[in-house]
Amino acid sequence: MPEATWWKHGIVYQVYPRSFQDSGGDGIGDLEGIRERLDYLVWLGVDAVWISPVFPSPMADFGYDVADYCDIDPIFGTLEDFDRLIQEAHAKGLKLILDFVPNHTSDQHPWFQESRSSRTNPKRSWYIWRDPGPDGSPPNNWISNFGGPAWEWDEATGQYYYHAFLKEQPDLNWRNAEVRKAMYDALRFWLERGVDGFRVDVIWHLIKDAEFRDNPPNPAYQASQAEINCYLQVHSADQPEVHEVVSEMRSVLEEYPDRVLIGEIYLPLERLVAYYGKDLSGAHVPFNFQLIQTAWNAQKIAALINEYEAALPAGGWPNWVLGNHDQPRIGARVGPQQARVAAMLLLTLRGTPTMYYGDEVGIGKVEIQPEAAQDPWEKNEPGLGLGRDPERTPMHWDGSDQGGFTSGKPWLPLDPRFRSSHVEGLQDDPTSILMLYRRLILLRRRHPALSVGGYTQITAEGNVLAYERQHGPERFLVAMNMGSEPHALSRPAGTRERVVLSTLHDRGEEPIGAQITLRANEGLIISLGT
Ligand code: NOJ
Repeated sequence: MPEATWWKHGIVYQVYPRSFQDSGGDGIGDLEGIRERLDYLVWLGVDAVWISPVFPSPMADFGYDVADYCDIDPIFGTLEDFDRLIQEAHAKGLKLILDFVPNHTSDQHPWFQESRSSRTNPKRSWYIWRDPGPDGSPPNNWISNFGGPAWEWDEATGQYYYHAFLKEQPDLNWRNAEVRKAMYDALRFWLERGVDGFRVDVIWHLIKDAEFRDNPPNPAYQASQAEINCYLQVHSADQPEVHEVVSEMRSVLEEYPDRVLIGEIYLPLERLVAYYGKDLSGAHVPFNFQLIQTAWNAQKIAALINEYEAALPAGGWPNWVLGNHDQPRIGARVGPQQARVAAMLLLTLRGTPTMYYGDEVGIGKVEIQPEAAQDPWEKNEPGLGLGRDPERTPMHWDGSDQGGFTSGKPWLPLDPRFRSSHVEGLQDDPTSILMLYRRLILLRRRHPALSVGGYTQITAEGNVLAYERQHGPERFLVAMNMGSEPHALSRPAGTRERVVLSTLHDRGEEPIGAQITLRANEGLIISLGT
């Protein structure tokens, strides 16, 4: 694939390290476990592995509360384990992407300990401290993403500190040049060790309104929603000055060859694409979560693809994400039949796809009993369905007790269906979702048309979405029935077309006539000849 760098044609696979493979028997996944499973990832055919945070952490938010940016938490292993992992991943042709959490540290980070020790401590201004209102109230109306006020009172020094997430996750002050320097040095620490890039946590949060103005009320707020939605996040995030920080991070990565900067950004499309930066000096990959957020029907998804393609800046490379550790799994959202169609969509759209571990074995809706809940968001705002435990359950490797994930007690229960749906068994079943993923990945790797090729929408009729991908003389039609009724598509007369792959697996290389009938929940890749 000469004209595209690895992160353009490659497939990113997200590992939630607590849940991938436990090597030590404590019920929590670790780096050594990931290393043991590298051959599986090579077999599956992905190109890059992104690992959610593995740095020392009190685990108030399962690693998104970092207490040291330049080490590994003992739960996950040691720096030596990390070095071994990256060396072996590279030897097997896999890239390794780390999760960088710059918006906030843990309240146990030495920087915060110093910052809170006195108002005159040199690190005071590394965090966001404000005086109370005249009546002792918080400085403004900002709400934490996990519920409750975003300001925590510090009795000892008589000020509030700001935390966009848990009170154990104080926000760093990115307007402070010393903070920036320290954080860029942390990036360099891992770049020197060979990491191929970073997924940057809540990158759009880094800069807040300089005057800390109140956020305006959200007229569409409903009590069934998370409390953060009471207000529109106009002043607490996505400030114009953030783009300077993003491009500085990008410059740090550019001190090293061929690294990728991925930004986690939940914003409407027109705001999202600004994170490519002026003259593409921002994130290489501002994560596009629209497939997660859009209703699952052909019309809506067709419109979304058009809108996204149109919004991209010239030269901005697209990307698509189907799931992550914060969002209900695709299998839970659309059910097992459409999950197969979703795999085809993800792996045939133009741009870099990001897969989420376990989707390829069809993990669906998992019920977590209240007493088993782990996620702090679920604990803070119970009963609203906000908890993220269901999408974080352990990987299904085999049919043994605990699915081959651990010899101990898993930190979260496995989806009980693991006994009939696990890697070992699915590898032997050519019609399984796992083998569908693998075939799609192989096809995508073999045919540049499906990865870096052009995209042309053909039709969105009924619940069928069809588009063409082309590269040089190669052309494919991808047609997906997102509904449960059969649907006939007319094809131009006299063309020589044949089926390459059906999500239902039983068509062989069927030639296509004047019309093709997609069965319920069927997706097809059709070769339009070379
Ligand atoms: C986004 C991460 O993906 C999520 O898991 C975390 O809780 C928040 N950022 C805070 O770091």
